[in-house]
Amino acid sequence: MSDSAGEEKIRIVKIHDGTVIDHIRAGKALEVLKILGITGKEGNIVTLAMNISSSRIEKKDIVKVEHRLLEEAEVDRIALVAPEATINLIEDYKVIKKTRVELPETITDIFDCPNQRCVTNKEREPIRSKYEVVSRTPIQLKCQYCWTLVDEEDIISQFTS
Ligand code: CTP
Ligand code: ZN
Repeated sequence: MSDSAGEEKIRIVKIHDGTVIDHIRAGKALEVLKILGITGKEGNIVTLAMNISSSRIEKKDIVKVEHRLLEEAEVDRIALVAPEATINLIEDYKVIKKTRVELPETITDIFDCPNQRCVTNKEREPIRSKYEVVSRTPIQLKCQYCWTLVDEEDIISQFTS
């Protein structure tokens, strides 16, 4: 599939090995970097493109990270801010695996409930947080313990604080 629109082809340098996170919802690339804990000080090549034309979604961001594989928990977090993203595993310049992120129906232990008084936030009772996905676009989660609703802004502020 081509991501070009008309004649304005955008070419971003290919990577030798690592991960390409493609079809990120436009404007969300920085959140993805934060989720992955990438600061740019690691020394590996990180390429970021924002607001580029795409055939599948109107505009998209791309993040390419050389020499880095993603853990499952990281992919799950990315699904919360970029539900259309594809994760491409690159080896020797070739895409050897392509997966679409997937938002599960319940989300366990990814971040703390924003309600300070929620039982999952009690220091003496280490109950793992658990949310039901009540809406996908826009994303909305419901804490299974206190029923607090969590929106995208809450999620992003958790991942970036
Ligand atoms: N890519 C890269 N370095 C490589 C190989 C691929 O940076 N050595 C990037 C491509 O630029 C693209 C993504 O990885 O952004 C997926 O590559 P590919 O599957 O070849 O592209 P498309 O077919 O356009 O992907 P899709 O069908 O998912 O849109
Ligand atoms: Zn709660």
